Amino acid sequence: MSNAQETTPLLGEEAGKPTKRYGWHYVLAGVAFVLVTAAVIVSVVLSVRHSPKAYAPGSFFVNITKAPSFCDAPATAWTGHIGLTGDTEESPKRSFFWYVEAEKKPETAPMVLTVGGGPGTSGLTRMWLGDGPCIISQEEKRAVSNPDRWTKEFNYLAIDHPVGVGFSYGQMVNSSADAARDIYDFLQRFYSLHPDLQKNDLILNGGSYGGMYLPHMAHEINEQNKLLALGKAKSGTKHINLESIMISNPMLDPISHITGLPLSMCKYHQIWNETECTELYEAVPSIIELMRRAVASPTLEHKIPALHAMGHWEAKDLHGVSRENLRSRCNGQLVDCHPRLPLTADLLNSVKSSLGIPEFLNFTAWKPEIAELFDANGDMMQDSTRFFPQLLKDGIRILHRVGMLDLNCAWPGVLSALKRVPTPYQDEFINAADIPWPGEETEATFRVIGQGAGEFTYVQLHNAGHFVGADAPRMELKLAQHWIYNKAFDQTDLSD
Ligand SMILES: *[C@@H]1O[C@H](CO)[C@@H](O)[C@H](O)[C@H]1NC(C)=O
Ligand SMILES: *[C@@H]1O[C@H](CO)[C@@H](O)[C@H](O)[C@H]1NC(C)=O
Ligand SMILES: *[C@@H]1O[C@H](CO)[C@@H](O)[C@H](O)[C@H]1NC(C)=O
Ligand SMILES: *[C@@H]1O[C@H](CO)[C@@H](O)[C@H](O)[C@H]1NC(C)=O
Repeated sequence: MSNAQETTPLLGEEAGKPTKRYGWHYVLAGVAFVLVTAAVIVSVVLSVRHSPKAYAPGSFFVNITKAPSFCDAPATAWTGHIGLTGDTEESPKRSFFWYVEAEKKPETAPMVLTVGGGPGTSGLTRMWLGDGPCIISQEEKRAVSNPDRWTKEFNYLAIDHPVGVGFSYGQMVNSSADAARDIYDFLQRFYSLHPDLQKNDLILNGGSYGGMYLPHMAHEINEQNKLLALGKAKSGTKHINLESIMISNPMLDPISHITGLPLSMCKYHQIWNETECTELYEAVPSIIELMRRAVASPTLEHKIPALHAMGHWEAKDLHGVSRENLRSRCNGQLVDCHPRLPLTADLLNSVKSSLGIPEFLNFTAWKPEIAELFDANGDMMQDSTRFFPQLLKDGIRILHRVGMLDLNCAWPGVLSALKRVPTPYQDEFINAADIPWPGEETEATFRVIGQGAGEFTYVQLHNAGHFVGADAPRMELKLAQHWIYNKAFDQTDLSD
């Protein structure tokens, strides 16, 4: 049932080799070769708990398939599930990933790890709407090759995060912190199957609720790296070469978010009418009070009322304007506002078997169960920027880019959150100018602190909404190139 014994380039030479733990299987080898083979296959799906070498290939569930191509763009890609700590046959905990090798020099190319937002949105949505080798065409209702694919020069690893999202399945978590521990666990296993990629720069990419996920993920990886350096990590743990994080239109902290809401809905755009705006202006101070209490003392009794107070405004009708891009009109339903998402789901469900996905899994772009779990735990009532000062101190660069037509995670709230972060660059960031950056699809501005593309950088894209990569794919690729190669935004030649 597991493919782990198959030798594939992704699995590398180490894959399928039994670890010390399975030594006894080879005693049986004298008895019957067939029995050994069966035992090794069974062992692969056993959990890692008592393994002397955590994360060793062969000690956890793996089922990886070489993915076929879905369009004309070249793509060497692998899809599959990796079992995480606690995974068993009876109670699985399996992360789904889609790994696309860079077209050029994959052995040294930086790796972009992409997750979705939500909570509950598939990491595959970013890949299929903007970044990947193939994207979904709304007109043609099929996959077409993407001229702006990131995979020309970057290795791309999309993960359905956390477990329960997209094609990932099994034991679910209810917090960004636990979800981040699962990503670390996943990466250790992924790199043990692909040790050649471990040295490559790793860049975390995501947006929306990714504003909660990514800082937690970066913090977890960074702190685990430090424990490893001190000799305090589990045996077999590897250093993870986290270089930077790229966040788009994020939910970073609820107080900045609610502070920015009247500005985006009433001041800069007239989405709500006078009555609604007066009501909002009157409500905001008491919501901020609830949030302050929840952030300072994060009990459920504090977090839930604050979340609900904000939820009342989040759920409010937008009078026919799309929450994710105020220039487009729709009835507020996901399918109607984002027709490419159900098209992506239809495509992925129709090709399930060629991706090695068991028949019982059905893909949806967004899983409401995950949002319910995170909301029941009040996960959003925290300030994820609290991790930024230490990350910056440890040399991990942080980029934010924001499509200014978004009403979901609108730019006034994001910029206000970034100005509040007590980084060593705080004064400089508050006072820095927004430098114009021309582009074909949209004008943009960049605010850069530091050399090259910066240590702490904020880019605004005028003519893009929540899904920056879908609305302005060329600009998004240009941005990724400058950021990942760490080249000044006004520099046009990116070759070294
Ligand atoms: C404002 O919007 C609300 C909610 O849609 C509506 O009930 C109300 O009549 C509107 N008020 C004005 C003054 O247009
Ligand atoms: C493993 O992959 C195969 C195809 O390669 C697929 O048919 C099967 O359902 C997968 N099994 C699990 C448990 O993921
Ligand atoms: C998945 O989809 C198939 C076909 O639409 C359906 O028969 C099945 O019940 C679904 N399974 C789950 C777990 O939703
Ligand atoms: C969140 O998950 C933890 C760990 O599984 C559990 O102990 C806790 O009760 C959950 N919280 C809520 C509010 O459901």
